[in-house]
Parts: sequence; C-alpha cells; structure tokens
Amino acid sequence: MFKRSHTCGELRKSEIGNQVSLNGWINTVRLHGQVVFVDLRDRYGKTQLVFNTDTYPGDFEQIKHLSMEDVISIRGTVQHRAPEAVNPEMPTGEIEALVNEMILLSEAAPMPFVISDRESALEDLRLKYRYLELRTEELQNYLMLRHRAYQAVRNHLTNQNFIEIETPVLMKSTPEGARDYLVPSRIHKGKFYALPQSPQTFKQLLMISGFDRYFQIVKCFRDEDLRADRQPEFTQIDMEMSFVDEALVRETCEDLTKAIFKQVIDEELPDTFPIMTYVEAMDNYGSDRPDLRFGLQLQDCKSFTDQSEFNAFKSSEMVKCIVLNKAKGYSRKVIDGLTDLVKKYGAKGLAWMKVTDGELTGGIAKFFPAGLQAEMINSLGMENDSIIFLIGDTAPVVLPSLGALRNELAKREGMLDDNIYKPLWITDFPMFDYDEESQRHVAMHHPFTAPHPDDIDLLESDPGQARSRGYDLVINGHEIAGGSIRIHDTKVQQKVFKLLNIGEDEARAKFGFLLEALTYGAPPHGGIAYGFDRLIMILAKTGQIRDVIAFPKTTSAMSLMDGTPNVVSNEQLKELGIQLIEK
Ligand code: AMO
Repeated sequence: MFKRSHTCGELRKSEIGNQVSLNGWINTVRLHGQVVFVDLRDRYGKTQLVFNTDTYPGDFEQIKHLSMEDVISIRGTVQHRAPEAVNPEMPTGEIEALVNEMILLSEAAPMPFVISDRESALEDLRLKYRYLELRTEELQNYLMLRHRAYQAVRNHLTNQNFIEIETPVLMKSTPEGARDYLVPSRIHKGKFYALPQSPQTFKQLLMISGFDRYFQIVKCFRDEDLRADRQPEFTQIDMEMSFVDEALVRETCEDLTKAIFKQVIDEELPDTFPIMTYVEAMDNYGSDRPDLRFGLQLQDCKSFTDQSEFNAFKSSEMVKCIVLNKAKGYSRKVIDGLTDLVKKYGAKGLAWMKVTDGELTGGIAKFFPAGLQAEMINSLGMENDSIIFLIGDTAPVVLPSLGALRNELAKREGMLDDNIYKPLWITDFPMFDYDEESQRHVAMHHPFTAPHPDDIDLLESDPGQARSRGYDLVINGHEIAGGSIRIHDTKVQQKVFKLLNIGEDEARAKFGFLLEALTYGAPPHGGIAYGFDRLIMILAKTGQIRDVIAFPKTTSAMSLMDGTPNVVSNEQLKELGIQLIEK
C-alpha cells in the first residue's frame, strides 16, 4: 500500500504536475476503450482517476476488471481535466490523477445494494448491511454532524463549569415510566441489575456530594413501544445543577442549545425561547410538544355547535375545531383518511364543513342556520375555500385527536419547513397523570420532581390539579429535553411517594439510599436531559432517528445486522440460575 499523500477530497488545481498517492474505495468505473475512469472515494470526497493504456505501465487487464467498492491504492500525477469533463459541483472537479501505479488492496464482492443510491434497497436490507449503508454520503454526513455536536456540547458545558462524570450502567431500576432492561446477576442468583432508563438518582446524589454542575453524554435504555423518534437504547445529554431555579436552568439550556445550533449547523436561534404552560399548549395546539412552525390553532366552537341543530355535540364537554384556509383537494376519501387518524386517538368521528361563496357547505353544514353560519365564519376567521374540522368529546379525546390532525394537515399542506427552528419551553405540567388501568396516580415526569410551591395544599386535597416544577424543551414538535427542579426534602419526597401509592417499605427498598442521602445536607437542585439522538435528527433535518445512530435497532427492537437479541446456551442460563418457561 502506498502511504497516502492526500485524501480523496483534497486535491485542487494548485497540485497540478505533482506526484500523489491516494487510497480509497472505487465509487464508479467507466470504460472508454483504451481509457478507464475511476472515481475514488473516501470519507473526505472523491477524486477522478484516469488509467490510460498508453501511459499505464502495469497490467491493463487488471484495471478493466476493477469493480465498485474494490479498495485500491494508487500513485499518479495530478493533471487538468479536459474542459468538457470539468465538474463544478465537485470540489476536486477541475483535476484528475493520471495513474502510473495501482495496488488492489481488497476485492469487493457484488454489493447487496447500490452504495450511491440509498433508496435502491428496502430498509431491512440496508440495516442487515448497515456497515455498507454507513458508506453512503448521507449517513457519513449525519455521523460527522453528530461528532461535531458531541464536541460542541463538551466544549460549551466545560466552559460553563460543568464536570463530566460517568455513572453506572449496571444499576437499580429508576422509574422513568418505561419497562427496564434487566441483567441477571450470576454471583447473586435470582437478583437483577437494571440498565439505566436515565442516571436520574445518581446525578441527584452527585449534587448532594457537592459537584454543583454535572453532565454526561450517556446511553439510556427503555423497553417501550418504538416510533420514528424513539429507540430502545438512546443517548442523553444529562445535566444537573445545584442552587438553581427554573429560570437559571432555562437560561443555561438556551445558551447550550444556541451554541450547538451555531457551531454544528451555523444556525442562530432566538436569544430567549418562548414559554408556554402545559394547559395553554394543550388548549391551543392539542399537544404538550406543539410544532410552532405553523398556526392551525385549535379554536373553541362549543358555543356555536350548541346553537346549531347538530345534536351529536350537545352533550360533549368540549367542542373544538381547526380551520384550514385555502384548502384544496379535501375529497371525501381524504377526509375519511383523516377520520381514521383521529379515531386512533379515541375520537368517534371527524365533523367538517367547507366555506363556498360565503356559506358553509357539505358535512354537517345543514345543521347550521344562515345567521349562525355567518357568525361562525366571521369569528373563526374562515375564508372562502376553507375547511373546518370539528371534534366534540371529553378534553382527553378532543385535544390529542385535534393535535394529531393539526400535524397531519401541516404535513399535507407542506408547512413543515426543515430550515425553520421553533424552540419553546413547556412549563407548569401537572404533577400526576391518572392511570385508569391501575386506578392510581403516576408521576407525569418522575417521582423526584418538586411540586409547584403554590400547589402544595393541592397535593392532599386534589392531587390531579397540582402542578409540578417540571419543564420540557420542544423544537419543531419534538420533545428535545425534559427536566425539573427536584425535591430536596425527605418529608416532601416521602409524601410524593405516598401519593404515587409507593408504600414506605417499597420506597425504602427502592430509593432508601436517596431518601437517606437527602437527610445529609442536600442543596436545592434541578436538571434536565436532552434526547441527543432527537436533537441530531433535527440538526440533520431527517425525520428518522435511525439515520443518526450508527447501529440502530428496528421498531421491533432488533439489530438485523448481528441478529440481536439472540438465544443463549443452556450453560449460560444455568450459570445465571435461569430457566426458560415455554411460550
Ligand atoms: P425524560 O424521560 O424526559 O427525562 O428523557 C429526556 C429526553 O430523552 C429523550 N428520550 C428518548 N429519545 C429517544 N428514544 C427514547 N426511547 C427516548 N426516551 C426519551 C427525549 C426526552 O426529552 N431523568 C430525566 C431527566 C431529568 O429530569 O433531568 C429523563 O430521563 O428527548
């Protein structure tokens, strides 16, 4: 192999006449009679090589047999490309290397798919050969962007006095709301480690230890239903700070987020990010992670439907609507599709009407007398050719179903511009969610989140109404980070455990170490964790979390490349004291 003098993305006109040596993969081969053109590729770019029978001293037959993805090493002279061959799109497009020596380092078997065209193969095949898919320019760029983001985070936080500390991967279960991945202990048969859903308890202990500002870029593991922005193992930028309140955490995160966007994609985010309460977000956008790149806000229309002859909504606790102006192509079939979507969120149906020549038409329009129509058109801001979608039900049905419809309409209407970034904070979350199945309260964030100081009394009298000191950072409809000010008082922590139906014994067994630690001088503290993969997904302008993870899992939590998860031998199971039960 020749020691490379340049990468494949480096040569320019200034090198013309020089002898160079390059190593790389063959991206394309073109035979033109006595001349063979090869595009040689490495992660820095591509360089055109020319093999000419008149000047190449070696075996030309070997050159004719070169094929895509072979790995070669060459020596050659840099020369001008013929004027008609100059490629202004390529940084190396003005030159080529006339090869005088070549070593075939590794011959490639025929590729399972075309490397230069990711779309040429179904995703399952690409995931099976992920190491080949990672050769594509797209994925190489995503991972290089991810690398720049790691560096931006480390630099910025280090400059802000944060210390990077690793926490255990084999640990005790932390309640983040998903199922744990468990690891059986060989030494302590019948006992299990849990892989961290997050380092939550450890980072709080580090505050009690006095580290003041901690961060870690850390793998977390959650056995939950997967979707486009969820993976079973994912990465967090995990942070915790002492002696802070919400405003200081927000300011610290705004600075970090702005630094990442600036350094990684040269994008300026607003100086401060808007703040919206959970209730406002749900009421106006039907989501606690509203995408603010577009309007389409939810509007109340119960007062109108109550006056109409449309009886289905009369007993509904809430009737809300979305108005889409300049609506084109909303045929019965399209509306049926949208109805199927909202039904997934529990809606019984999707009522609609259109505005034609100043009047409501179609759908449920006949139930609305002319005067009421005029009033509605005016107060809901409807124009000619707009369509209105209405859902009446309980709030937990109306809001999420219209929230999902809002996102779908924006997608259909091409309102999701990847080049616009709309960060915002969501605050004043409810402290608890009520889980109908188990008939008990569950923590909306996690059980260490402090209650809102104004709502302490509500913890006893009406826990469902109590707000927490939790906050989320949302960008373009994705929850990018979530955190809270923590409870730093053992008594309050015990009270919250009680409300969560975690008995004293259970609390001691699960979190005794934290409860005890809180008694030894705990500073007021709070923190946050960013979903690093989600953040990269947004920076990379891709809608798929798998694109920004080198070796991701499928939505059924498998790695198709190495066949994970896999069976283990009976000996291994025996050693762990585990016996499988038949399915
Ligand atoms: P939370 O559970 O909100 O908070 O997680 C923080 C952020 O992690 C990301 N995230 C995920 N990303 C990809 N795949 C997943 N399965 C997944 N689950 C979560 C989200 C989310 O906002 N310990 C607390 C943080 C704290 O209170 O400081 C925690 O983990 O972007």
